Amino acid sequence: MTDVLTLTSVSKSFGALKVTDDVSFALPKGQALGIIGPNGAGKSTLFNLITGNILPDAGRITLMGRDVTRSPAMERVRMGVGRSFQIPQPFEGLTVFENLLTAAAFGQGKSEAEVVDHCVSVLGDTELLPKANLLAGSLSLLDRKRLELARAMATGPELLLLDEIAGGLTDAECRALIATIKGLHAQGITIIWIGMGEPEAIMASREVREIYLGMEV
Ligand SMILES: Nc1ncnc2c1ncn2[C@@H]1O[C@H](COP(=O)(O)OP(=O)(O)OP(=O)(O)O)[C@@H](O)[C@H]1O
Ligand SMILES: [Mg+2]
Repeated sequence: MTDVLTLTSVSKSFGALKVTDDVSFALPKGQALGIIGPNGAGKSTLFNLITGNILPDAGRITLMGRDVTRSPAMERVRMGVGRSFQIPQPFEGLTVFENLLTAAAFGQGKSEAEVVDHCVSVLGDTELLPKANLLAGSLSLLDRKRLELARAMATGPELLLLDEIAGGLTDAECRALIATIKGLHAQGITIIWIGMGEPEAIMASREVREIYLGMEV
């Protein structure tokens, strides 16, 4: 089966700072890949390279077997790359549902009328149905995170990139959000999620092993 995503020897520098250094990996359909690293390690930059928000200095990126190394971000969204941003920036003056309609219409290149049903099902999948008609600016942090996830889902992704989506949440909120994300993964969506911290410390944490990695300790 064709991999959803491949990176081959991808590198990116900002001035003298080499942030992405010869990164290669392949992601088969349906996989969930975690990326862990401390502040400034280059995690968000990796996402920006995959989405086309920035272009690599060297290397090759493919999506669904197609070379997209230099393709614009919008083209990659329409090919099935959805992302959440580290700092949620919804349209605060629009409702939750209107935010989804906007993301879906632009992301899928369709009219709003054509994406209504899809957006309703995304509201259900992300537990936002009861909040559909609230202004995005009035949401709690957890619901803002859910909306960020929902906006990415509205674009109809095959590959979902989650940039520190659980940052700032309490343990209980974090578990709730992870349950939602596991539901999306169970639908067959391929996921890369970013977590922050020192890799050794995170991997040793019992909670992370149980929650993120699904292992019994
Ligand atoms: N567009 C840019 N121009 C110049 N430098 C940048 C740019 N984007 C990122 N950097 C630098 O590259 C390094 C990696 O940044 P990046 O945002 O990818 O890290 P990160 O691992 O996501 O960090 P954090 O955990 O703080 O989110 C940092 O030193 C950052 O200042
Ligand atoms: Mg980051």
